[in-house]
Amino acid sequence: MKEIYHPPVMLKEVLEFLNVKKGGVFVDATLGGGGHTEAILKASPDVKVIGIDRDEEAIERAIERLEPFGGRVSIYHAAFSQIDEVLEAEGVEEIDGVLFDLGVSHFHLRGDRGFTVWEEQPLDMRMDRRQKLTARDVVNELSEKKLAEIIFKYGEERFARKIAREIVRRRKEEPIETTLELAKIVEEVVPKKLWAGRKKHPAIKTFQAIRIYVNKEFEEIEEGIPKAANFLKPGGRLVVITFHSLEDGLVKRIMKNLEGFKVLTKKPVEPTEKEVKENPAARSARLRAAERVST
Ligand SMILES: C[S@@+](CC[C@H](N)C(=O)[O-])C[C@H]1O[C@@H](n2cnc3c(N)ncnc32)[C@H](O)[C@@H]1O
Repeated sequence: MKEIYHPPVMLKEVLEFLNVKKGGVFVDATLGGGGHTEAILKASPDVKVIGIDRDEEAIERAIERLEPFGGRVSIYHAAFSQIDEVLEAEGVEEIDGVLFDLGVSHFHLRGDRGFTVWEEQPLDMRMDRRQKLTARDVVNELSEKKLAEIIFKYGEERFARKIAREIVRRRKEEPIETTLELAKIVEEVVPKKLWAGRKKHPAIKTFQAIRIYVNKEFEEIEEGIPKAANFLKPGGRLVVITFHSLEDGLVKRIMKNLEGFKVLTKKPVEPTEKEVKENPAARSARLRAAERVST
């Protein structure tokens, strides 16, 4: 396991919107390396955090990092759509706040599970390795139509149909096994003038789409956020950080439709220039928050 640190994004804003100072029980639905949880625990000695992540490696890191907080933190290897089961196991009926810091973490991107377009790795992309479906299965087994649909819907890629056609043509020759094989196919399809000389790799959208599909990311959000919101006390806070426009649009709609909630962020809050300078990975972060006003 490579040693990589994931700097928690929009930390100050998260603590403010969660209203951590007043104490209580908080859920970190995307524990990751435990950066946000650590800050929440440090912000007030009266706070307890229940952390959830579906990635076993993230859980291992978080356990190590959060050990000094002893019984003030409980950690669960689960999907956040299972928050009801986690809280039942914990014997908790109500919470004061919940944080979703969505998407992949640094150690996914810099790890060896095929999340990156830049390095040669097996096409995997599973956040939870207990799951069967991998990116390799998606790329080699789905129909051309389904692939095009996924790449267009979850990647907003206008060359989706051409990319899908080329993937299917190539996999007939031999199975597509690695990140760079897939990245190269996309490179050959997307006109060079649209990406040559730029930092953004033309396959990033296709990779995002396949990752979202493999991990059922949107289904998790649709199920997990309303479920979590149900456990909030009046005055309790829901805070969600997203990293691309599709995800932000989805979260905006879910928050607007939550009954008994007041949205606290008319527009999504963006990271400060200073933060983006210090941590360029934070540049696309957008934070939305809501408060429970009635039961
Ligand atoms: C951006 S990272 C979180 C980083 C964390 N806030 C920190 O400060 O270290 C997102 C994490 O959420 C996890 N994750 C994504 N979707 C999930 C889901 N549906 N259920 C549980 N964990 C999920 C990923 O495995 C990843 O570790």
